[in-house]
Amino acid sequence: MAFLEICKYPDPVLQKKAKPVQDIDASLPKLIEDMIETMYQAPGIGLAATQVGKLIRVIVFDQNPREEGRNPSCLINPEIIEGEGEQTLEEGCLSVPEYFSEVKRKAKVTVRGLNAKGKPVEICGEGVLATVLQHEIDHLDGILFIDHISALKRALYKKRVQKKLKKPEE
Ligand code: NI
Repeated sequence: MAFLEICKYPDPVLQKKAKPVQDIDASLPKLIEDMIETMYQAPGIGLAATQVGKLIRVIVFDQNPREEGRNPSCLINPEIIEGEGEQTLEEGCLSVPEYFSEVKRKAKVTVRGLNAKGKPVEICGEGVLATVLQHEIDHLDGILFIDHISALKRALYKKRVQKKLKKPEE
């Protein structure tokens, strides 16, 4: 197991579209395992391969990242095939440090993909899980949660990041 480095905004890799996994080779289970460990260490409830600089369509997530209740899931080539309702939840992202904002998304989604063994699976998510699935799948398309907030709020966040990048000692 290894911890992977998480790419942070404004790293351009975060805006790239990831490619579907064509075949599940020997390197994939290792990457998935490392992504799960990295997610727990961060800690976070979801991580997309894009965030560790790998442009392939793989996400991991776990709503209960605390040690006693861990139950990690992985989806390869996830696709939202159905969505309904609306909900607004506060989101953060390991690639967008120190920032949280409410984002409006579907309240319930059905996602189709492959599990770590390459078997087709369908996951139905409501509430927090619905938001996590949409947030992580967005990453695979180069979309961050700050792309869903108002232009004004986004501009303020970008300004803050620029300021920080100019003064790395702070
Ligand atoms: Ni994220």
